[in-house]
Amino acid sequence: MINIPKGTKDVLPSQSYKWQYVENTAREVARVFNLKEIRTPVFEHTELFTRGVGDTTDVVNKEMYTFEDKGGRSVTLKPEGTAGAARLFIENGLASSPMPVKTYYITPCFRYERPQAGRLREFHQFGMEIFGAESFTQDAEVILAASSFLEKLGVRTRLEINSIGCKTCRAEYNAALRKYFAPHLDGMCPACRARFGKNPLRMLDCKEEACKKIAAAAPAITDYLCADCADHFAGLKNLLTAQGVEYTVNPRIVRGLDYYTKTVFEFVSDAIGAQGTVCGGGRYDGLLEELGASPLPAIGFAAGIERLLLLMENTSAAFPEDGKPLIYVAGLDDACRAEAFKTVCFLRSKGIAAETDHTGRSVKAQFKYADKLGVKFVAVIGGDELASGEIKIKNMSSGEQTAVKCADIYAYLTKE
Ligand code: HAM
Repeated sequence: MINIPKGTKDVLPSQSYKWQYVENTAREVARVFNLKEIRTPVFEHTELFTRGVGDTTDVVNKEMYTFEDKGGRSVTLKPEGTAGAARLFIENGLASSPMPVKTYYITPCFRYERPQAGRLREFHQFGMEIFGAESFTQDAEVILAASSFLEKLGVRTRLEINSIGCKTCRAEYNAALRKYFAPHLDGMCPACRARFGKNPLRMLDCKEEACKKIAAAAPAITDYLCADCADHFAGLKNLLTAQGVEYTVNPRIVRGLDYYTKTVFEFVSDAIGAQGTVCGGGRYDGLLEELGASPLPAIGFAAGIERLLLLMENTSAAFPEDGKPLIYVAGLDDACRAEAFKTVCFLRSKGIAAETDHTGRSVKAQFKYADKLGVKFVAVIGGDELASGEIKIKNMSSGEQTAVKCADIYAYLTKE
């Protein structure tokens, strides 16, 4: 027996309708917000992520599925969707399109993490990436899109927002962080000591208890924002309030990826354990330039589908019913089964979900099976029906039986 790799999950036939529901909801939100789907490869050149996501992040340092292909190139299974979307935007010359370019994706992602509830090695994201709009109204729109998606799924989360500033204010903030952390370095983990020189902001995101304690009293970025970033953040907050979106400002949110500037946000739940962030995102005005293109502002988010499903299940959110065939056509003997098969083929060609037997069940067993399938109607074809050209159709909920001419079945099934 070969088992599934650790940290991955099968989607079973009895469960896939839940995935489809979440994905269809995502596509519907994307439609009303006027976003177009993009699809990027599952693997990219490793450098895209080391440069894009950043080499001081855990994602790049510890979690990437990186390997050499047979041509000796280093490739990496995408750990997230933003870097690939930015590459797609640049490589395909989308910068010459009218701005903003509004995109979304539903994609598998891969991170070599320690699996636990809501944390997998292969997981799926619904994400949005919007290129070319600088205004805080764009930030508000992206947050509203995420919020509308979560609301449509019936999940309750809290929205936490922050601004982590731009190049200008970040320099001053980094200096303040270094001043604060310098006397504590001996009590911090080796990773934080490395972050101190390269990117002290990352020290606020460390999971080590000792580091967390020290970081708790570090200066807050919101006290260091430049006038432009402060105005941007204030504009966003006003707009969210005007739209009735509840949020709290959490100056500790720095996000786990290096490309963020200005606005960052997370939708968090307490109902799914330690991995409570179901959706996270923010602005990344420096990423395109970092990847070698002309500078262009951008913003986006991604929601983890597995975490959302876990949250929906833990909070008994309503899923729509799984699809069922409308009719089961049973046959008594071989000749009748052949007729049942023909009838089912005809109904399917008309777009009706129909089922029949392929395992030689008795009529009684076919009825039992049809009942399990949850069909609305069962039609039985026996010798009499063959001779008369009429089929008896039973309505499974009312028990009512109706004789219907073979030629009229479709009309009968679609009459309501
Ligand atoms: P992220 O916060 O790393 O951001 O991931 C986004 C979401 O993916 C998380 O909130 C979580 O729901 C889900 N997720 C992340 N890692 C795992 C995992 N190991 N197992 C299950 N679910 C997971 C990004 O990936 C950014 N690219 C989001 C973004 C888009 N920012 C701007 N545009």
